Amino acid sequence: MALYSDKVIDHFENPRNVGTIDDADGIGEIGNPSCGDIMTFYIKVKDNVLVDIKFKTFGCGAAIAVSSMVSEMAKNKTIDEVMKITNKDVADMLGGLPPNKIHCSNLGADALKKAIQNYLDKNK
Ligand code: FES
Repeated sequence: MALYSDKVIDHFENPRNVGTIDDADGIGEIGNPSCGDIMTFYIKVKDNVLVDIKFKTFGCGAAIAVSSMVSEMAKNKTIDEVMKITNKDVADMLGGLPPNKIHCSNLGADALKKAIQNYLDKNK
């Protein structure tokens, strides 16, 4: 029985948008205290659009796949559009996750939204 969907495996093996942005407009980090995994997102914003997104995830395969997927879903979208992406949307786009890995998907959209909040706070 396959535990992970093909999409999860694809994004784990070939994660999109991995890295950091030196002059990021916003940075957001979320950790999961139960497993110790940490996800950090870096964003560049132009005219209210996330023109670049990079992430670093020190975590399990599901967390890496979630980071990669949410970065793809959010790239070139407006801040308003990205703020509407839920953790469940990300898990759904990955074709679902095993029940004991759902907590991993709860980091992705939250970390990205934290980066957006950081950008908004700096540009008040
Ligand atoms: Fe911690 Fe997946 S086991 S995020």
